[in-house]
Amino acid sequence: MQALPIFQRTNRLTLLIVLLGASFSASVSAAGDAAVKMGKQLYEENCIFCHQENGVGQVGIAPSLTNKELLSTATDKFLIETIRDGRMGTSMASFNMLGTSGAQAIVAYLRSFEKLPNRAAEVNMEPDAFGDPRFGKQWYEQICSTCHGMAGEGYEAGGSGTAIGKSGFLSKASDGFIRETIKIGRSNTPMHGFQGPTAGLADLNDREIDDIIVYLRSLQTH
Ligand code: HEC
Ligand code: HEC
Repeated sequence: MQALPIFQRTNRLTLLIVLLGASFSASVSAAGDAAVKMGKQLYEENCIFCHQENGVGQVGIAPSLTNKELLSTATDKFLIETIRDGRMGTSMASFNMLGTSGAQAIVAYLRSFEKLPNRAAEVNMEPDAFGDPRFGKQWYEQICSTCHGMAGEGYEAGGSGTAIGKSGFLSKASDGFIRETIKIGRSNTPMHGFQGPTAGLADLNDREIDDIIVYLRSLQTH
């Protein structure tokens, strides 16, 4: 019976902490909700025509922006700067007029679809690719070019894959981001992963994937 008052006191303290915590997270998520709401509106005014409702994308028109692997590996910086600058030589125009806050709101909206833990910072810190572009070229031409184009020119070559040989993509994507995308792919799109038991067309090892990245980097100047 002596332990009861202590128990009650501890309980009251816990309750206080829980209440404080709840009101704090409620105000944080209220600000978050406002950004998501604004982002949704901007998305529906500017992006939905190509990237479709809920950002699911449309093969050959625009990639998915709510794909779970994309959201878990792409940094906010990558997404915001892609929105700001667009991708030259593709139909992805610059949306600089939305400003940083507009782009941030759209990214908050896209992130509301997140299903996997965000690994973007870690992926972005991965070491640069080190490999042989001559081998990379062989792999690329045999496996990737049917969808991404012989020189990585993307949709304009008639395939389903984006312009991964152009500087609009390469100047913003880290080697870690490209590496993870090749390894794990993007579910519910034609981009299957190229490593491990779920690999589609080919099961590439780390070295081979790095050869491809080094080759892609050499295309950027074309
Ligand atoms: C006219 C069609 C069109 C519109 C409108 C459009 N996009 Fe795109 N977007 C594209 C295409 C095409 C690509 C892929 C370009 C390539 O081949 O690299 C793309 C790529 C992207 C990417 C890179 C995705 C990835 O997988 O790396 C982001 C982010 C993006 N768009 C965001 C937006 C946002 C946000 C809007 C609205 C403000 C928008 N886009 C409007 C066509 C469009
Ligand atoms: C069967 C078609 C197909 C093949 C083969 C393919 N890809 Fe893709 N790839 C895609 C599509 C489609 C996307 C974009 C996903 C979407 O539409 O949402 C993509 C996206 C990517 C991206 C992300 C680009 C961006 O805009 O963010 C990279 C990097 C990539 N692929 C690399 C490769 C490499 C390297 C190979 C060869 C080892 C390869 N892909 C083979 C279809 C393919």
